[in-house]
Amino acid sequence: MCGIIGYVGKNNALNVIIDGLERLEYRGYDSAGIAYLNSDGLLDIKKEKGKIKNLKETLDFDIKSSLGIGHTRWATHGEPNFVNSHPHKVGKITIVHNGIIENYMELKQELLKSGYSFKSNTDTEVACALLDKIYNETNSIEHTISIFRKKARGAYALGIIVDDDYNHLYAVKKDSPLIIALGDKENYIASDVPAILKYTNKYITIEDDEFAKISSDKVLVYDNNADLKKFEVKTFAGNSNDVMKNGYDHYMLKEIYEQPEVIKKTTLPIIEKDLDSLVNNMPDFSKYKKIDIVACGSAYHAGLVGKNLIEEYANVPVNVDIASEYRYKKLFIDKDTLVIVVSQSGETADTLAALNIAKTHGCDVMGIINVVESSIARKSDIVMYTKAGAEIAVATTKAYSCQIALLSLIALNIAYKNKEIDKSKALEVLKSIRCLPTNMQSVLNEFDEYKKIANKIYNNDKIFYIGRDIDYALSMEGSLKLKEISYINSQCYAAGELKHGTISLIDEGTPVIALVTNEKMAEKTISNIKEVKARGAYVILVTTDNINTDGDYYDEKIVVPCTNKFVQPILTVIPLQMLSYEIARLRGCDIDKPKNLAKSVTVE
Ligand code: F6R
Repeated sequence: MCGIIGYVGKNNALNVIIDGLERLEYRGYDSAGIAYLNSDGLLDIKKEKGKIKNLKETLDFDIKSSLGIGHTRWATHGEPNFVNSHPHKVGKITIVHNGIIENYMELKQELLKSGYSFKSNTDTEVACALLDKIYNETNSIEHTISIFRKKARGAYALGIIVDDDYNHLYAVKKDSPLIIALGDKENYIASDVPAILKYTNKYITIEDDEFAKISSDKVLVYDNNADLKKFEVKTFAGNSNDVMKNGYDHYMLKEIYEQPEVIKKTTLPIIEKDLDSLVNNMPDFSKYKKIDIVACGSAYHAGLVGKNLIEEYANVPVNVDIASEYRYKKLFIDKDTLVIVVSQSGETADTLAALNIAKTHGCDVMGIINVVESSIARKSDIVMYTKAGAEIAVATTKAYSCQIALLSLIALNIAYKNKEIDKSKALEVLKSIRCLPTNMQSVLNEFDEYKKIANKIYNNDKIFYIGRDIDYALSMEGSLKLKEISYINSQCYAAGELKHGTISLIDEGTPVIALVTNEKMAEKTISNIKEVKARGAYVILVTTDNINTDGDYYDEKIVVPCTNKFVQPILTVIPLQMLSYEIARLRGCDIDKPKNLAKSVTVE
């Protein structure tokens, strides 16, 4: 979603900020802007609708600017246009803002009465006016921020410049990510690590009740009473290579190819010494009678795979919910329920809200999270990290497979400890996890074959996915991947459900991608495939090498190696990801930055 970068230091703020904004492009945005100190020592603000290149064209990069804040905006309050874009300036205060000030209408009324007027429809301009009003009353920016926090409700990360002091930036946050990164005679604020990784990997996180005052050579962190606090300087483990395309045409393709490596990183430390590690390197799940898995989008789909495995092998009931529904529905949870929130970014607003609600019911919350130090990671009682590394493409691939890998390990851990499966079966699963990277590589090596299939179907305006049992959960992810990046209207159905209505949508030549990887269900699913084939569907069968597929009910066949059910989805999803990628490429879509989407959805 929106991105923030701020800079104060010896180099040219314009270069650093524009470069940072470009690195944040993947988050999704529809306008961009910058406020910077010009060569006359005054603050200039430039903003443009559309891509960052439009903004760049308005800037003179030859000037020397020592301080500035920049923003990419993904419109929430008010359409994407010049007035609504950030930065906003009211009186002496200039800000960039991520998140939403929930009570901005109420605050706006008060500010109107105090004589403020507003040009935009945004909550940000209201926040800016509120800061200006308090600053005029207190003449202290530290006290202004403390009072602001008491008055403003909602989630926000703010980068602030005050006209009386162009040597400092201010950073304040609540439930929205913001880091302060440290350089040599230069410091930064950023909503996301990739924005600054080219310059430094040293950073500070500020808590929700803290704020920071940043100059080129000093960072001060204050608590909510404006008293100084000590802070810890952290080192980000990655480097800027982690956020480069490294020769691939798109981040999405690079990230698909990274999967064998990140699966290794995510799983091997947990099972390094076989079953002893599986038991000792994971949390104790034995005290929970039931599990709720809560997430959004692909992470929700990973949760559905997890439910299938935990229920089937560990014999523990699992409820999976979409976070935006969970947060408002009646919940049947208590201290005997483990709530697992799954999130790549660790910032998804609905998932964060679901976590908070689960806590009010006295539940333990476990996060399966990719971004270290993210809000959800910090608020979870227990965290298991997916080690997928920075995921830049908006459509998740490698983080999704790592989420499944951790959920599988949870299923195996509980099943083994509860004696639902015996030692030899558990060891067999561990073996299949160790073989996964090699097997994944062999599936990735078939990309040319998937390309040929993509070439035959990319011009269709609808594509269906069907499957049963765990293949149904996986089909949902395949269908989401396709629609989000190719804009093809794709639907996914449990294979047995088609004849209850949806089959009427199958026309001559309609592509149906049918998953059959579960031997037990194969015969049933194949009958369903024959039903669509009889109605003219162009069937692409995705199956495993152990299943007898004799018959003339499909047009194309993708075969992946058969492995254990615990890890089969991680192999089977690869051709689905690659088909989606290639179809979107053939259709000329902006694969890494699909329209209307954002990488991290920090609004409700
Ligand atoms: C789809 C996709 C989204 C995310 C969803 C949750 O490719 O990326 O559906 O899975 O927005 O995001 P996180 O995992 O960051 O909570």
